[in-house]
Amino acid sequence: MAASKKVVARAAELRELISYHNDRYFGADEPEISDAEFDELVRELRNIETEHPELKPEQSLLDLPGAASSTTFAPVTHRQPMMSLDNAMDESELRAWGERVAKGLDHQPTRFVCELKIDGLALSLRFENGALVQAATRGDGKVGEDVTANVATIKEVPKKLQGSARPAVLEVRGEVYMSKAAFDHLRNAKMKENEARIAAGKKPQPVPANPRNAGAGSLRQKDAAVTATRELSFWAYQLGEVEGVPQFDSHHDTLDYLAKCGFPINPEVRVVDSLDEVVKFCAHWQSLRNDLPYIIDGVVVKVDDLSQRERLGFTSKAPRWAVAVKFPPEERTTLLRDIMVSIGRTGRATPFAVLEPVVVAGSTVSMSTLHNREQVQLKDVRPGDTVVVRKAGDVIPEVVGPVLALRPKNSKPWKFPTKCPCDLRSTLVQAEGEADTRCVEPECPNQRDQKIIHFTSRVGMDIEGFGEKTVYKLSDAGVIEDVGDIYSLTTETLLAQGFGEVQSANLLKSIDTSRSRPLEKLLVALGIKHLGPAAAESLARRFGSLDAITAASADELSAIDGVGDVIAESVAGWFATKQHKTLINKLRKGGVAFDNVVVVDAPQTLAGKTVVVTGTLERYGREEAQRAIKDRGGKSASSVSAKTFALVVGNEPGASKLKKAIELGVPQLDEKSFERLLETGELP
Ligand code: IVH
Repeated sequence: MAASKKVVARAAELRELISYHNDRYFGADEPEISDAEFDELVRELRNIETEHPELKPEQSLLDLPGAASSTTFAPVTHRQPMMSLDNAMDESELRAWGERVAKGLDHQPTRFVCELKIDGLALSLRFENGALVQAATRGDGKVGEDVTANVATIKEVPKKLQGSARPAVLEVRGEVYMSKAAFDHLRNAKMKENEARIAAGKKPQPVPANPRNAGAGSLRQKDAAVTATRELSFWAYQLGEVEGVPQFDSHHDTLDYLAKCGFPINPEVRVVDSLDEVVKFCAHWQSLRNDLPYIIDGVVVKVDDLSQRERLGFTSKAPRWAVAVKFPPEERTTLLRDIMVSIGRTGRATPFAVLEPVVVAGSTVSMSTLHNREQVQLKDVRPGDTVVVRKAGDVIPEVVGPVLALRPKNSKPWKFPTKCPCDLRSTLVQAEGEADTRCVEPECPNQRDQKIIHFTSRVGMDIEGFGEKTVYKLSDAGVIEDVGDIYSLTTETLLAQGFGEVQSANLLKSIDTSRSRPLEKLLVALGIKHLGPAAAESLARRFGSLDAITAASADELSAIDGVGDVIAESVAGWFATKQHKTLINKLRKGGVAFDNVVVVDAPQTLAGKTVVVTGTLERYGREEAQRAIKDRGGKSASSVSAKTFALVVGNEPGASKLKKAIELGVPQLDEKSFERLLETGELP
């Protein structure tokens, strides 16, 4: 029976709901529905799709085993390891590789296959007798994750081999990626969703920073139905384990075979006869990389002849017959519209570039810090200049310098402003021997706003919904003059300032929650110079209350491990200031807890071990995870090094951390293994 209009509409709605709540589940602190209710939605959609198969989108895989129920992915041991590649950072390193190859092959003529290095996520697809049976991520190269249900939603990945070939086993390696257009689409949708969230007084959700993160996050979804809503693509570039395939002589033969089987092969692949041609290929794509509809970060060069490959063999880490030529960070030029100065909570004046928006490495850049006076002078960038912009370390945009040939004739060096941009127009000063220029006016509204923003932010009292916009609104209206005023806000005040009823209620609720934050959070939130989370924690644990800290002398404070003279003087000085005494009293009257100190006596399973967490975990907030590591005697670091004991990988993990961990052979753990690690101190 054909589906009624009502059923069609309900199916569409269910897909929306599932996608919405799936995101909530991962990104927000409070999922809006229970797991059981979520499962009920999935069940209902599954029932409709079974009854009306015509409503089932080609990729709906709600009916695949494991879809929409598994939150972690099962481990898959790669029967043939997924190796990484050695890098060549420039032409000379590429030529050095070419020489090693020539030497290893007694200077036999050698053909090379040049492929674009797609900036995505490596996958291994296993086909048995022509059917896709498993898809796995690379993981540490030996063990990856089973993402079959999610990968099966990718249109470009064949589920059955095309043509007549039915090898017993065919493992295809390739890159799953998100195109620039699909990324823009997803990002816009997420931003719209966030606007709605903010209007409803809810915390905005993280928006993926670049196509690579978006692609990885989309693939590692709890529910394959969500992956299906994301436009992911795939290029195949290598064989893994095979059984019952024809005898191939060359790599390009294997690519032809894969193309016949229905796999997308990148159209820019070229077979060349010399290293000079390889160099040309690299130069060509380095200059045209921006014109491609997807992101590449280099070129992969492979020896074509498979018997030559065998002669060359492998090192412990990578094949000798291939190399990844990495492009330098992507650079774009754009107009420098203006240079402005922002005032931080300590009064520091930081110049920043206002740019004509430009897309660099997959995301739009319209502002970039210029650090300080000296940096602007050194770079000699001026408003009106065309400037070169790039992303340092993939994420943070940076102005490299001006394109002098395009500088307008009448241009003059930029002068650091002498006045604070706020209404008081107080004088900015640069102290002898200091790099920073500061506004030293204690009443400066810019400093005041930044202090409040710091106080309510996640590193401080973490007041949900109390972001920059809210601070500016309440501060401009004169409703809050310092952070103490936050705790006397009322529904009436908020309504009078144009907040909605729901938003006001939510805001007051999160303010109330913040009253019982641990003492170390309160200390950090106050923004005392030099006092970071680690020292704040030592103080909190040793003294047990804010009043005890206030009463302590600098000498007593500096006796604490991790609190030196500088911090001690700064803390003692801060509490001795009259203005701060008034503030502390306001906070006390406002009901903020001053002695909330968590005493832990967890087993010290991680003593001496450093653990790094990347991406979002399901059962732990970022700080909770760090806390759990520290409580067990471990160190929680923010970057991966050779000393890292393990990298805990959550949803939408940081590309560079993951890459580094893979390069250094640091074990990567999912959330389950992390919990086991906390308990036992051992790796799975
Ligand atoms: S071949 C043993 N070909 O780059 C051969 N890799 O740096 C292994 N990648 O892990 C890989 N495009 O994720 C190969 N055309 C291409 C590639 C490519 C992107 C990625 C892949 C791999 C990493 C190595």
